[in-house]
Amino acid sequence: VRIYVPRDAAALALGAEKVAKAIAQEIAARGFDAEIVRNGSRGMFWLEPLVEVEVAGKRIGYGSVKAKDVPGLFDAGMIDGGEHRLCLGEVEDLPFLKEQTRLTFARCGVTDPLSLGDYEAHGGLAGLRRAISMTPVDIVKEITDSGLRGRGGAGFPTGIKWKTVLDAAGERKYIVCNADEGDSGTFADRMIMEGDPFVLIEGMAISGLATGATKGFVYTRSEYPHAISVMTEAVGIARQAGILGPSVLGSGRAFDIEVRTGAGAYVCGEETALLNSLEGKRGIVRAKPPLPAHKGLFNCPTVINNVISLASVPVIMEKGAAFYRDFGMGRSRGTIPLQIAGNVRYGGLFETAFGLSLGDIVDRIGGGTVTGRPVKAVQVGGPLGAYFPRALFDTPFDYESFAARDGLIGHAGIVVFDDTADMLKQARFAMEFCAVESCGKCTPCRIGSTRGVETADKIAHGIEPEKNRALLADLCNTMKFGSLCALGGFTPYPVMSAMTHFPEDFSPAPLVEAAE
Ligand code: NAI
Ligand code: SF4
Repeated sequence: VRIYVPRDAAALALGAEKVAKAIAQEIAARGFDAEIVRNGSRGMFWLEPLVEVEVAGKRIGYGSVKAKDVPGLFDAGMIDGGEHRLCLGEVEDLPFLKEQTRLTFARCGVTDPLSLGDYEAHGGLAGLRRAISMTPVDIVKEITDSGLRGRGGAGFPTGIKWKTVLDAAGERKYIVCNADEGDSGTFADRMIMEGDPFVLIEGMAISGLATGATKGFVYTRSEYPHAISVMTEAVGIARQAGILGPSVLGSGRAFDIEVRTGAGAYVCGEETALLNSLEGKRGIVRAKPPLPAHKGLFNCPTVINNVISLASVPVIMEKGAAFYRDFGMGRSRGTIPLQIAGNVRYGGLFETAFGLSLGDIVDRIGGGTVTGRPVKAVQVGGPLGAYFPRALFDTPFDYESFAARDGLIGHAGIVVFDDTADMLKQARFAMEFCAVESCGKCTPCRIGSTRGVETADKIAHGIEPEKNRALLADLCNTMKFGSLCALGGFTPYPVMSAMTHFPEDFSPAPLVEAAE
């Protein structure tokens, strides 16, 4: 019997380690022949720790399990899928999972993340094997034809980025995986690294074959200790198995990976600051051009892709560009892992084809707020994303539809707020966040964010509100068009959307004299 207890950081935060220990104790005490597998998360965080038992080829779920529930679960016959108040039935049948299209996350939560056997038994390495039989030009064409766009946030076509690197002259080329997942409310990169690290390794190896790069770096953050340890172990296993090294799967072409850890500055997720950090320098933004694709790491042509972009490559190579392109809408092809968070009942990861409406995602899939109060605003795309009011809930989830409404899907983080949220405070927070995280290289961001905090405070205190609202909008305009990178350039999105859609929060009643 196999019993699955997630090793994912979200499950661990909710007590999965204690649950695993308690299960091990019961197995020993009762003399069962059972193996505990530490899988990744299925992404249904309200059910974590989610324990699964494999019974007659089916996975029966129990959640959320606390260590003190474990003896009772064994008494109820959990080992045979027995009935218990925490029993959820077959996990694959849970509506939240059943409705998803899991391509990138197909194995996450299903397999043992560090078992290559499990990985291959679930379709792993098929994409890499196919890539080995193709020319670099054909691999790049396959990715271009799939319509895959950068899942880090900007949505630049991955195939075109790879082609730029393939065509660039350089003795050495690099693949850099941007795993510096800094957006609040996002966890897709972390989940893949902890739940299916080989898919990222396979995607990076394919990227290397496609562009002529022989070395890859995974740049992750110190706040992700579990992801770092799983990735590091997986790279070692892949190297031992000949997936990485001087001859990738006996192809005669070399590719190897190193895992590097940043110190946690948000701006190091910006690609050029990330390159500086990888080179051992201060994480400060470089001016573009030159693009990293031309002159990136150590001045060499470099592919920088987000974890999810690279982790989506194996399924494209395995099943073909047309299969992947078939999902989605308009210029947004394939699937996107929505990360539903904040004040929401069913928070977690929901991989689906582009095109669901924001309202459907928040009200139906997310189940509305956990407080039971009406949803007031949803911030899409991380701390630099716009706030959407209910009036815009018909917006389809795709790059262009959000851009047309002055928003962005970014890394697909969705943070829900109920009607107690004060949008002026949220706008102030955006400016404060920018002031704290600014690398300081350019004036609109470095100075503008601090002036923004002051101006928001003046509005909150009823000091010349009309003049200060105009000043805040003016400041946003300068930051949007004058900043060197997305940190300063996108901070206006949350600020302006809050001001535009929730003007009542920007007109607080003047302060009343204490004497009254
Ligand atoms: P960008 O639009 O400047 O560039 C996008 C990518 O395309 C870059 O890798 C760039 O080098 C590449 N590129 C552009 N033109 C190219 C060409 N002709 N040939 C080859 N490559 C080319 O956007 P940027 O500043 O890299 O990213 C901004 C996005 O980052 C925002 O949309 C935001 O949502 C997202 N973001 C994501 C975070 C996360 O945690 N994942 C955190 C903060 C922001
Ligand atoms: Fe640095 Fe901010 Fe300018 Fe970006 S916008 S380069 S973070 S100062």
